[in-house]
Order: sequence, then C-alpha cells, then structure tokens
Amino acid sequence: MSEIAKIELEGKSYEFPVFEGTENEKAIDIGNLRAVTGYVTLDTGYKNTGATKSAITFLDGEKGILKYRGYPIEQLAEKASFLEVAYLLIYGDLPNKTQLESFQADITNHTLVHEDVKQFFEAYPAKAHPMGVLSSIICSLSTFYPESLDPNRSPEAKNLTILRLLGKAPTLAAWAYKNAMRHPFIYPKNDYDYCKNFLYMMFALPTADYKVDPVVVDALNKLLILHADHEQNCSTSTVRIVGSSQANLYATIAAGIAALWGPLHGGANQAVIEMLEKIHNDGGDVDKWVLKAKDKDDSFRLMGFGHRVYKNFDPRATIIKKACDDVLEKLKINDPLLEIAKKLEKVALEDDYFKSRNLYPNVDFYSGIIYKALGIPTEMFTVMFALGRLPGWIAQWKEMTENNEPIGRPRQIYTGIVNRDYIPIDQR
Ligand code: CMC
Repeated sequence: MSEIAKIELEGKSYEFPVFEGTENEKAIDIGNLRAVTGYVTLDTGYKNTGATKSAITFLDGEKGILKYRGYPIEQLAEKASFLEVAYLLIYGDLPNKTQLESFQADITNHTLVHEDVKQFFEAYPAKAHPMGVLSSIICSLSTFYPESLDPNRSPEAKNLTILRLLGKAPTLAAWAYKNAMRHPFIYPKNDYDYCKNFLYMMFALPTADYKVDPVVVDALNKLLILHADHEQNCSTSTVRIVGSSQANLYATIAAGIAALWGPLHGGANQAVIEMLEKIHNDGGDVDKWVLKAKDKDDSFRLMGFGHRVYKNFDPRATIIKKACDDVLEKLKINDPLLEIAKKLEKVALEDDYFKSRNLYPNVDFYSGIIYKALGIPTEMFTVMFALGRLPGWIAQWKEMTENNEPIGRPRQIYTGIVNRDYIPIDQR
C-alpha cells in the first residue's frame, strides 16, 4: 500500500499522497494543500521543497553521490568528453559515434557570432566583469534570432536555439576576456574540439603561433563535466522559473548566468582564490583566518567550504583535488596558494566548528587553483563554471518545457502592516 502523510490542522485530519522517486527519495505531495486546508507551507530558501520531478541528475548529499542520467560522475569525469556529457544531459542517453559526430558538427556550425555582436563588446568598459558581459550578450542574442522569442515554436526550432547557444557560448566567453584585455578577438577554429577551441580563442594572438597544451585541454574537459549539472541549485532553479514564464531560451540562460555570479554560488571559485591570496599576503597564518570564519561577529566565511546539500563530502571536490595535484605536477607549477589551501582544509576538517556543521571543501575550493594553473584569469573563473553548467541549464529547461510545467509562482506569508489610510503629503 502506498504511504499517506497525515496533517492535523484545527482539529481536522487531512491526508496527502507520498511520492517516491526512483532513488527512493520520498516527498509529501502537497499540491492541493491550500485548496483543501487554506494553509501553505513556509520554507525560506526552499531547504525542504522539491520544486519539480526531474530525470536528469541525482545527488545524495549525505552519501556524497552525484549521477547524471544514472551515470556516476566519477566515470564520466574519468572517461567522457564534455560534449558527450552535454548530449547525455540534454537528450537523455549517451550518444553513439554517429550521433556524437553530428552533434559536434552541428555545434561547430554555430561557433561564429554575428559581426554586429562585436560592437556590443566594444561598448563595455575594459573593467567590465566578464560575467556581466556574458549574461547581457547571451540575452542580446535573442535580438538577432527573433524567431527564438517563442520558445515552443517547434522541436526543430528549439533544438536550433540549443545548438546555437552551445556553439556561441565559448566564443562569447573568450571574447569577454579578449575585450577586457583590449586584445583583438580570435575567431573560432572549427577543426578544434570544444575545449581546445575555447582555449585557442582565449589565449591565441594574431602575432604568434599558439599551441594548445593537451594537458590543459584534458583538465578543462574534466572541470566542465564536473560543473555540467547539479539539479535544482540557485541558478538552475532560476532557469526553470524564468523559463516557466515562456521567456525565450537566451533570456532564460542569461538569468541563470546572473544567478551563478553570486559568491555564495558559482562566484565562490573567484572568491576562493581572492581569499587564499589575502591569507598569503597576510603572512599565511591559516589559524587566524579559521578563527575569523568561526567568529559570529565577523562576516568572513571560508569560501569554498560548506554546501546546502552535501553534508558529508562533495564528490566533485574529491575528483578536482586529485586533478589539481596532477595538473600542477604535469605543468610543473609550484603554487604557494595550493599549500595554503591544503593547510586550511586540514585545520578546518579537524575543527569542531566545521565538523559539527558538516562543512567540507566544495567543488569551488580546488577548481580556482586549477583554473589559475591553466592560465585562466581570476575574473573568468565563474565564466568557466557557466560554460560547464550550460548543458545542465538547457537540459533542465528542455525537461520543464516538455513536461508542460506551470509557471513558477511561490506563495508568501505577509508580515507587513495590515491597514492604513492615505495621508496627504503636507500632513505627514
Ligand atoms: N565558513 C564558515 N561558516 C560557515 C560556512 C563557511 N564557508 N558555511 C556555512 N557556515 C556556518 C554558518 O555560519 C551556519 O552556522 P550557524 O548554524 O552557527 O549559524 C552553518 O554553518 C550553516 O550555514 P548556512 O549558511 O545556514 O548554510 P546554507 O546551506 O544556507 O549555505 C553555503 C550553504 C554554500 C551558501 C554556505 O556554506 C557558504 O556560504 N559557503 C561559502 C560559499 C561557497 O563556497 N559557495 C559555493 C557552494 S558550491 C558551488 C555551487 O554549487 O554553488
């Protein structure tokens, strides 16, 4: 017999069905709670709210498990290419050879951006943060493709927008950097794969030959896979909410990029490096900074520590930590920030404050160090996260639209003043 949840309210008993997912997660389906009881649930920060049913990503924060479409993240990070993972997330299964080749060819076909887009870049100040540039330029793509304004026009039109976004995002991300440097834009080279092409557009100059280091390509491939999806986090929920109003996909993804930018979400990778540099410049006394992080009167937090859902360890951090050691060794880089990061991790993991609150290093703790080793400038770190997360956002949006989910519109409990009469301005 299926389980039933009972709620007692004002002496009356109500029954609600329990929904069980394929990984045995259970939820009380309160879809008609307000209609039958007059009550709503109150859950600030959505800590206990399942906002949707999804078949894309599963994670178990207590056990440190992360799977995309049933495949463990460890296997995908070790063996797959980023485009294989993108295909898996968006279309549901790993591609066969022909499917992957045609996916790659389709994306490559869309790596160029309209020449007019270059003028947008030129209008930004050199100091513009590349996340602000990326978000607004991606939104502005909707003005070049007016047919995309109706996101549900046809499955073919929808897929074309998806391919355009995947193809153009690395070009736009690399150009955001080139623009900040006031360097000439480098056009995509379509015989390069996704990661290699991005690195080429980032680092090549018209004045010299540039060879992309395969160690760097491999590391980037892994990092993008680890970032590719993470179920209903802040930016993905933003994508689903914005998309639920039937806004076009460019605008929807631009909103996701804006949400990712914050230091409590994807912006943490930049914040981690800035924190490590601060500690380093301050003499490297890790204990002092751990004390600051524990002090309730001090707003300082250990960036790259803690996670809303991982309460044991973040499996992505375990993979990244190893990749970080490998990359630094292969590239023969001796980074004092890595030493500080390792000390910080050790001190925090042995400290009761962090242990009792289940605060462990998250994906961003080590990713910044790898990005730094790959030569990616600090302000571009969150852009890298956005490039990785793009297929996840697209997959979640596609799933939501295919399931005809209703517009996202939470309730609230009003706590303001109940009634007042208007007083003319000269009498206030
Ligand atoms: N340093 C010091 N104390 C912390 C930290 C930290 N990094 N994170 C949480 N705490 C404390 C917090 O003060 C609170 O203590 P108390 O119970 O005494 O009030 C307790 O731990 C619970 O914290 P919370 O803020 O209620 O937890 P949350 O689930 O709302 O926030 C978080 C999760 C990731 C926003 C938070 O841990 C944080 O701010 N971490 C630093 C930023 C960071 O690394 N963000 C990247 C997350 S991973 C990338 C992604 O997927 O977005």
